[in-house]
Amino acid sequence: MHIALLTASPRTDGNSRALAAAFADGAADHTVTTVDLNTVTSGGFLRDCRLCRDADGHCTIDDGYRDLVHDVLVPADAIVLATPLYFYGLPAVLKNVVDRLVCYLSAGYPRSAEVVAAMPGKRLALLLSSEEDNPALTTALRTQVQQLCRYLRQDFVAVVHGVGNRRGEVAADPRDPIAAARDLGRTLFDVHHTDYLLDTPRDTAAW
Ligand SMILES: Cc1cc2nc3c(=O)[nH]c(=O)nc-3n(C[C@H](O)[C@H](O)[C@H](O)COP(=O)(O)O)c2cc1C
Repeated sequence: MHIALLTASPRTDGNSRALAAAFADGAADHTVTTVDLNTVTSGGFLRDCRLCRDADGHCTIDDGYRDLVHDVLVPADAIVLATPLYFYGLPAVLKNVVDRLVCYLSAGYPRSAEVVAAMPGKRLALLLSSEEDNPALTTALRTQVQQLCRYLRQDFVAVVHGVGNRRGEVAADPRDPIAAARDLGRTLFDVHHTDYLLDTPRDTAAW
């Protein structure tokens, strides 16, 4: 299987990268493409598409984003986001990657059908690092990712949360998120969660 492992921290030796490295280690049987998002969005933020599309409808922001979409995200069976928590939410670089997807999903882009068709059905997992450890801390970020997955019809299957502030400190987190990230690399395509709807067939006899 193909896994797109997207890292958002500018710290290449930081905590979320340590989680990403452990995940990649566990996922060695798969094809993992690791992308530092800080290097692909050097062209900046989303602009007014009507002003910056070329005559053929292509985004003219000249950086690595187009290749990220077509060469990494479209063919991926799963997307794994390795990111620090910034002010209780997504770092701007990761939010920008999400925002700029609109240019590639909208009908004005000649290859949008290809991108739209490729989005549903992918598994998505989060490798998250933060300084603090209180359980409510990551609620907004998780909710945003959950809603994004719902919109794109993707399966949000796992979160590994490591606590640490100094570079690499996540390895000292007593809950051992490094081991959890490695384990997720091995099991990403086996993780299953129940998510019942009213009409989901199931045994209610016990209740
Ligand atoms: C701009 C910024 C905002 C941050 N906001 C939070 C926060 O809201 N809550 C928190 O627990 N840690 C916060 N942190 C700390 C980082 O999430 C933490 O150090 C994390 O482990 C960094 O991951 P990295 O080493 O992969 O960059 C923030 C750090 C920065 C630089």
